[in-house]
Amino acid sequence: MRKRSYVLIGFMGSGKTTVGEELAKELGVEFIDTDAYIVENQGRSINEIFENNGEGYFRDLESEAVKKLSQSFKPMVLSVGGGLVMRDINVGYLKAIGQIVYLRASVDTLCVRLEGDDSRPLLKGADLRKRIEELMNVRKERYEEVADIVIDTDDKKVLEIVHDIGYN
Ligand code: S3P
Repeated sequence: MRKRSYVLIGFMGSGKTTVGEELAKELGVEFIDTDAYIVENQGRSINEIFENNGEGYFRDLESEAVKKLSQSFKPMVLSVGGGLVMRDINVGYLKAIGQIVYLRASVDTLCVRLEGDDSRPLLKGADLRKRIEELMNVRKERYEEVADIVIDTDDKKVLEIVHDIGYN
């Protein structure tokens, strides 16, 4: 595979981090995850940031993070939080970084993967399937519209997805 940068987008639970780590390993480039980057810089969890400062503040941190990362010339695999592409300015930064890959997963798959998860503030306390459907309805088109490559991930193994990305 050629050394170039990829940005993985998609809903929470779509496998961006797992696939991103493996893809970065294959390519021999650095793997960065915006949530982990923010948590490290802030010294607190995503839940704490949402609770203490609200979603808007978190979204500003996301924008700052991708702005900064877009100024790097090093090839990387970047996985971004599920809501990050909703801001136009962020998409501009992502396009400057590399190929945008949408890891698409069905609501059924996401329900299984996100069951019992308590690390994502937007899924707290609600009927999980309903919440996923609500957010997905708002985001679905956006994910497809900003992606250079769309990969269906349902029932695929991590290495198959990595392979699909590399040969696109
Ligand atoms: C969010 C997704 C999360 C995290 C935050 C908000 C979202 O990242 O950024 O909880 O709005 O979809 P993952 O997509 O990596 O779970």
